[in-house]
Amino acid sequence: MVCSARRQPAVLSQAVVATETQRGAMSTKEKLIGHVMKEEPVGSRNKVTVVGVGMVGMASAVSILLKDLCDELALVDVMEDKLKGEVMDLQHGSLFLKTHKIVADKDYSVTANSRVVVVTAGARQQEGESRLNLVQRNVNIFKFIIPNIVKYSPHCILMVVSNPVDILTYVAWKLSGFPRHRVIGSGTNLDSARFRHLMGEKLHLHPSSCHGWIVGEHGDSSVPVWSGVNVAGVSLQSLNPKMGAEGDSENWKEVHKLVVDGAYEVIKLKGYTSWAIGMSVADLVESITKNLHKVHPVSTLVKGMHGVKDEVFLSVPCVLGNSGLTDVIHMTLKPDEEKQLVKSAETLWGVQKELTL
Ligand SMILES: NC(=O)c1ccc[n+]([C@@H]2O[C@H](COP(=O)([O-])OP(=O)(O)OC[C@H]3O[C@@H](n4cnc5c(N)ncnc54)[C@H](O)[C@@H]3O)[C@@H](O)[C@H]2O)c1
Repeated sequence: MVCSARRQPAVLSQAVVATETQRGAMSTKEKLIGHVMKEEPVGSRNKVTVVGVGMVGMASAVSILLKDLCDELALVDVMEDKLKGEVMDLQHGSLFLKTHKIVADKDYSVTANSRVVVVTAGARQQEGESRLNLVQRNVNIFKFIIPNIVKYSPHCILMVVSNPVDILTYVAWKLSGFPRHRVIGSGTNLDSARFRHLMGEKLHLHPSSCHGWIVGEHGDSSVPVWSGVNVAGVSLQSLNPKMGAEGDSENWKEVHKLVVDGAYEVIKLKGYTSWAIGMSVADLVESITKNLHKVHPVSTLVKGMHGVKDEVFLSVPCVLGNSGLTDVIHMTLKPDEEKQLVKSAETLWGVQKELTL
């Protein structure tokens, strides 16, 4: 039999043996609760940090909490009042959650020993602004954030959400010095979710039964893999060979256009996007913390894949688990789809090589 030497024998409650005089000097808590043993502090096993408590950060935080994905959630931002307000607001919901510790500070020590760190900090797109335009502003912010994350959670998995996400994932990889399997960009996980939602609307089916992968660059230059679009293993392109091409009477190409335009439309209507990206982030965090080995389209180093020669991050189907991004699925892409990936890679590299990191 193995006994833990550290476990102390039960200590009788002071409240049981205390005299009336002693009881008078005790606090309500001491009168109410009789300790059986002195608990040793137990560190968090599944701590998740969200950096940036803006619209995307808070939607991610709430989605992570509602899915019970961590035993501790840490929030960081530079805006102290906003940070304090957000953490208090979440803590007030503790009754409805199963994450016992929710903490926040602008000091990164609060993030110590995180398993996953989600970075959503940075400037967001203005109405009509492209994601690439944001780049230099957000690189400067990353130069401060990433070294602090590394300092306090040297073994974490870094998930970048801030835009332009593919470039910033490369920047985070460079600044962190982490191996490539521990730096992931949320990439086209959201674009693919938008595609599957729209496909579901068109076919009157739930998105989970509509399979389709958007790969490549998150946003404007993303690539829909029409050859893989299927329901229950039935290839839609085998039913409609013009699917995704010009001259298709059903105009499936429009579905991808709506995916690309969708973010701009939401930003125009409500000023920002938040709920879908938040849920998409929680989906990725779940695969990591629960070691699901699920396949997601996320941004990873693709040099050497599909004809890409540059050191860039783009989304391809990747396996996510406890160790991070463990495997990449080799897609069968058509020459024009590979051409689009190479073109995106060249555009990204053109921007990246001008950056001062
Ligand atoms: N990858 C995706 O699919 C996707 C989807 C939507 C938005 N985004 C991106 O997410 C980012 C955040 O968007 P948002 O709408 O939440 O913006 P927001 O302006 O609401 O929030 C950004 C937050 O970052 C904080 N911040 C700025 N500098 C910081 C620093 N040095 N350290 C810590 N926090 C800092 C700000 O104080 C603010 O609270 C943007 O870059 C946006 O483009 C990505």
